[in-house]
Amino acid sequence: MFSIDRKDFGPDFVFGVATAAYQIEGGQKDGRGSSIWDSFSATPGNVHNGDTGLNACDHYERWAEDLDLIRDGGFDAYRFSFAWPRLIPEGTGAINQSGLDFYDRLIDGMLERGLKPYATLYHWDLPSALQDKGGWMNRDIAGWLGDYASLIGDRFGNRLHATATINEPWCVAFLSHFLGVHAPGYRDIRATARAMHHVLLAHGTAIDALRAEGVKNLGIVLNLEKSEPATDTPEDIAATNLGDAMFNRWYLDGVLKGKYPEDLTTPLAAYLPEGYERDMEIVSRPLDWLGINYYTRGLYKSAPSRIGFPIEQVQGQLEKTEMGWEIYPQGLTDLLVRVSTDYTRIPLYITENGMAEVEGEADPRRVSYYEEHLKAVLAARAQGADVRGYFAWSLLDNYEWAEGYNKRFGLVHVDYQTQQRTPKASYRAFQGMLHNTR
Ligand code: NOJ
Repeated sequence: MFSIDRKDFGPDFVFGVATAAYQIEGGQKDGRGSSIWDSFSATPGNVHNGDTGLNACDHYERWAEDLDLIRDGGFDAYRFSFAWPRLIPEGTGAINQSGLDFYDRLIDGMLERGLKPYATLYHWDLPSALQDKGGWMNRDIAGWLGDYASLIGDRFGNRLHATATINEPWCVAFLSHFLGVHAPGYRDIRATARAMHHVLLAHGTAIDALRAEGVKNLGIVLNLEKSEPATDTPEDIAATNLGDAMFNRWYLDGVLKGKYPEDLTTPLAAYLPEGYERDMEIVSRPLDWLGINYYTRGLYKSAPSRIGFPIEQVQGQLEKTEMGWEIYPQGLTDLLVRVSTDYTRIPLYITENGMAEVEGEADPRRVSYYEEHLKAVLAARAQGADVRGYFAWSLLDNYEWAEGYNKRFGLVHVDYQTQQRTPKASYRAFQGMLHNTR
């Protein structure tokens, strides 16, 4: 049980759970096109154990049972993502009716159960046909995403409670094009710089497209970390500032201030698309809310031998999750206060927070992780941050990208042989907090 009370958050605070299409749907049939994660995961060496999202949690068939779990947990909202290749198999052009039908069923299913739909347009499953044309390296992706956003706005917009364009643009750009850990697995600085700009240009273009369709309550979901120096030497503090620019400020400054940080535009000058400055007005279109995914802190030290980016991330000493990520609730309070002091007064939502834990239905460490982070949200609110909601990652154990099915983030256990769902203690803890107040 949590020691906190739902009432501590006020009457309008939204509690939800989050998932993403590729991580849970499976259902690679009925005209769904190929995505970059299909080929990336089929390539030996990219994903733990060679796992793919072919079946995942079979949510494509079991969505009703999953929505029941969300409702029965006492949650108000469900953050899900649309699979672009299910709706537009080639990324542009022909629309797949079965895909429209699936999301009709899913959204209507939420509304019937009193759950508010929080949609994400892009949670990493880029149609392969668009990758063939350069994917995020190609400026045309702004128009491709814009057209896809128009379709969503037209067909589903009036039933969505809130809509985000992109999930975690740092992962789309840096993790996928510089570190090579996620699809398409590039390790190239020019590819990275282009993706860093195009992902935000596409975001702004999609905002315009959604607004033109009359869709309300629009935002973006950023993954932010608390950046801290490994020691208090000036070198490590400088390294931390650069790490903060790469992870946090590029996206916060771009989207909310319309200007990228100079400590990055200078080293990336040779690789950024020419004339990117002219796009900054689109990049920084006004938003109705900002989503923040928070998991851990980033600890930095200087590594002077590294040309361009003389920094290194180091392991800290705090207790870690199964991902090896330090558990650091104070970082969430600090980040929320920073964003609301330095960047914006639009409503903030924790769109993801949670931990990977060893398999099992008893997950006391996860219960305390959630409890401590919920308290961190309350602390940020007490310091003036306008946080309006909190989504747990994730409803189900699911396909954790390069970690495959090996890392389990669910409030609900999934047996991948039988697809049986079993609520864990963490699910019961939320249920206990939320149950009597709906
Ligand atoms: C962020 C991503 O949005 C989600 O897809 C992922 O599973 C979680 N973090 C956990 O790593």
